[in-house]
Amino acid sequence: MSPSTPIVSAALPKVAYGKGGHVYDVDGKCYVDGSGGPAVYSLGYGNEEVIEAIHHQLTRVMHGYRHTFTSDPLEELTALIAEQCGADLAQMVFVSGGSEAVESAMKIALQYHSARGEETRRRFISRQRSWHGNTLGALSISGFKARREAYEGALLPSCLLSPANVYRPPAGVASADVAAFCADELEQAILRLGAARVAAFVFEPVVGAAGGVVPAPPGYAARIREICDRYGVLMIADEVMCGSGRTGTFRALAHDGVTPDIMAIAKGLGGGYVPLGATVYRRPIGEVLHARHGGPQTAHTFTGHTAACAAGVAVQKIMRREGLFDHVRTNSQRLFGLLRAALGAIVAVGDIRGRGYFAGIELVADRETKQPFDPAHQLFLRVRQRSLANGLICYPSGGNVDGVAGDTIIIAPRYDSLDTELVEIVEKLALSIKEALAQIGAS
Ligand SMILES: Cc1ncc(COP(=O)(O)O)c(C=O)c1O
Repeated sequence: MSPSTPIVSAALPKVAYGKGGHVYDVDGKCYVDGSGGPAVYSLGYGNEEVIEAIHHQLTRVMHGYRHTFTSDPLEELTALIAEQCGADLAQMVFVSGGSEAVESAMKIALQYHSARGEETRRRFISRQRSWHGNTLGALSISGFKARREAYEGALLPSCLLSPANVYRPPAGVASADVAAFCADELEQAILRLGAARVAAFVFEPVVGAAGGVVPAPPGYAARIREICDRYGVLMIADEVMCGSGRTGTFRALAHDGVTPDIMAIAKGLGGGYVPLGATVYRRPIGEVLHARHGGPQTAHTFTGHTAACAAGVAVQKIMRREGLFDHVRTNSQRLFGLLRAALGAIVAVGDIRGRGYFAGIELVADRETKQPFDPAHQLFLRVRQRSLANGLICYPSGGNVDGVAGDTIIIAPRYDSLDTELVEIVEKLALSIKEALAQIGAS
């Protein structure tokens, strides 16, 4: 295949069944899942306890509509999440996925300001190279060029700041100064827009798809917290990808010792057994919403879907019983050790980074200058193609450098992965990367 051949996705394999960390297509081909699909399947495939919990709930009642009923699963999941979140991050609205969770977070922020008589606070500030979802509101605050392009002109006005990325600092900024620079940038943006017009700052504590797993530098989140507090701007943590234990703590921001005002979670929360997400917010925000409007004015038909909540309860109980967040945190060294041993000698591997079971590998044309590969090579798509051919599912993404160039691969195994699986994932990844590089004449 020549470097300029477009990597159009060939017909997708048809999925048949999965068990543990492996999934099979209808032709019987086996894939080791190195990324939990799109960083979702936190407990792997075919977990019988979760399936039984959903089945049990369906046989009793599938859905108690939110205006008519509450339910045991809804209340139990609320309690489990509140306990994991700590502090006063204890109120929540359940939704069906990440975009809805972010959209609801934005709406709760707006409603909160309206309820307090600050109706001018309508603007959101977020960051480039971030992904918050595919509904119009969430897309408006996302800095993922390829995914926005078709909708430009119809999006909410956005204010996108520099990514807080020490591997690729903003121009002229030393890596050690990224946290301070990016925090100052937020303060300047608030002052430029006028604090009285800013509703919230939205960010991914560890950037997922748009950046290729980018943890914020130490001190960044705490500085952001101070600035938000100083100007009455709400802090919204989008933990859809990095949260629910993926980085070794239920809340990714717990690593930084920071509590957001509002947090969006989904993906690993229900482990992919059902569509499930939640927007969690601090008690004082809930009190304002309740006093003025009777509660949050954002929800959907399937909000708090009973069988979905039952799945969430089962997943979260297993996480707790098996100590899987702690396991992810401590065994993270093993995953990163394997990745460094297998990939470190590949010249094009510029960076291996991340936290917990959330790893990003960045491929570069030049390690010294960090020059990305020519996007015409579509290297990340080649890695995906070779991985599938080699029986590996991983999550390659493009455009992390400037919205167009840049090739990253996310590895996000299930929290209860066997060691043999981690080894298989890393071996197949190394092979697939080498094969993809060979296709474009690189090594
Ligand atoms: C950080 C983040 N926020 C929001 C979303 C949107 O979630 P969903 O695709 O479930 O709507 C995603 C999806 O990848 C995400 O990674």
